[in-house]
Amino acid sequence: MCKSSYRLYVSQTKPAMVKPIWHNQSFFLLSTCALIFISLLPLTTQQTPETAETSITRFQQYLRIKTAHPNPDYSTAVSFLNVLAKSIPNLITKTLYLTTPQKPLLLVTFLGSNPNLPSILFNSHLDSVPAEPSKWVHPPFSAIKTDDGKIFARGAQDDKCIAIQYLEALRNIIKRDPEFKPIRTLHICYVPDEEIGGFDGMQKFVESKEFKEMNVGFFLDEGQASINNKYRVFYADRSPWNLVIKAVGKPGHGSKMFDDTAMENLMKSIEVVSRFRENQFDLVKTGVLANSEVVSANPVYLKAGTPSKNGNFVMNMQPSEAEVGYDVRLPPTVDPDLLKKRIAEEWAPKTRNMSYHIVEKGPLRDYMGRPLMTATNDSNPWWNVFKDAVEACGGELEKPEILSSTTDARYMRQLGIPTFGFSPMKNTQILLHDHNEYLEDNVFLEGIKVYESIIKSLSSFEG
Ligand SMILES: *[C@@H]1O[C@H](CO)[C@@H](O)[C@H](O)[C@H]1NC(C)=O
Ligand SMILES: *[C@@H]1O[C@H](CO)[C@@H](O)[C@H](O)[C@H]1NC(C)=O
Ligand SMILES: [Zn+2]
Repeated sequence: MCKSSYRLYVSQTKPAMVKPIWHNQSFFLLSTCALIFISLLPLTTQQTPETAETSITRFQQYLRIKTAHPNPDYSTAVSFLNVLAKSIPNLITKTLYLTTPQKPLLLVTFLGSNPNLPSILFNSHLDSVPAEPSKWVHPPFSAIKTDDGKIFARGAQDDKCIAIQYLEALRNIIKRDPEFKPIRTLHICYVPDEEIGGFDGMQKFVESKEFKEMNVGFFLDEGQASINNKYRVFYADRSPWNLVIKAVGKPGHGSKMFDDTAMENLMKSIEVVSRFRENQFDLVKTGVLANSEVVSANPVYLKAGTPSKNGNFVMNMQPSEAEVGYDVRLPPTVDPDLLKKRIAEEWAPKTRNMSYHIVEKGPLRDYMGRPLMTATNDSNPWWNVFKDAVEACGGELEKPEILSSTTDARYMRQLGIPTFGFSPMKNTQILLHDHNEYLEDNVFLEGIKVYESIIKSLSSFEG
């Protein structure tokens, strides 16, 4: 999940020491020989089955690799995942370098029996946002598991959990049925730089020869945790606009009352935008629409005044220019041309000496000119396959949502590829990009079961 900015921080924390587990006094009574023999036995007496324990261990190992910005260690992460994937029978891997040797992209492939059918692609970004260790109760790269099963680490929710869950699900499927072969080819891509826009990651990947050869028919990307018992699924991202509104007017002495000053023009405009913002927010507050389903227009800066020598402002002078900046977010359900018309006519009318400038920070339409969203009804056969697969393993889906921010999913939707955002974390506090990010071991393990069901259903879907 990508936010447009974050504080930079280089962590100094060392990985946590592994605690010895042989602290039971009775062991000291055994001879050295017997001790060695016993320690080689599987831990059959433990409550957690051996497979669960190792899935968790592998998750913790991955969390300890420092892939946080501004200096993500992609090479170590890719080597780790590569070894992990290769330890699972029938998976093939390939590392691509689409920009520099410091930004590898790992592709894992499970070949299907019908190569003519479009393939399925699962995604996980390798990078995380930075963490400030002093604000954490456990060091952010320790991946410490507390007694109540919480695994603390930057990236635990966003999105290193799914990176490992994909592979653990495949490991389980193949272990249970070594003959299992999907009908459609399944790929997993591990991409760099999602948190900083994906320009050297997913954007380069979708332009590559390797991607075109994959003939992707369905894409599954990251989602978000839910605080209740249902899983969340996302069918679109909101798209950001940077909007700057400028006003000019007659300058004049601070003592003089006259019409059409730049400040007056700008303040009238700000009032209009504030009313619009209030109306949108009311729809959220009254439960008509979700936060991500309305247009947000949040003021982020104001600039006006005539500077004086000491860094302050001249107080007896009405300035001839004034401007305001907004962070605007548009859901794909909104017509961008209508919003532009509103901005031109109501927010920044020329008749009041106003002008505006929009920087569109992401696409709003796919290559066919359609809104950038994936249908969640019968018109999209993948929807039913996905939904049934989640339900088949006892999961329940929340009403499909639009994501408030942006992810790499937009690059796929732009190509018209059906795409859902999904991270199976229910009954979980939403902590992405927050201090003390953690995921509970049980939630992580349950997510593996969900992916087993999804992988089996999607890869054997012939429609
Ligand atoms: C627009 O700016 C011009 C030049 O400063 C000024 O003469 C005019 O009155 C302004 N009009 C409005 C509506 O602000
Ligand atoms: C399915 O949803 C899309 C938009 O998400 C809508 O345009 C279309 O009419 C719907 N089709 C059916 C069959 O309900
Ligand atoms: Zn993410």
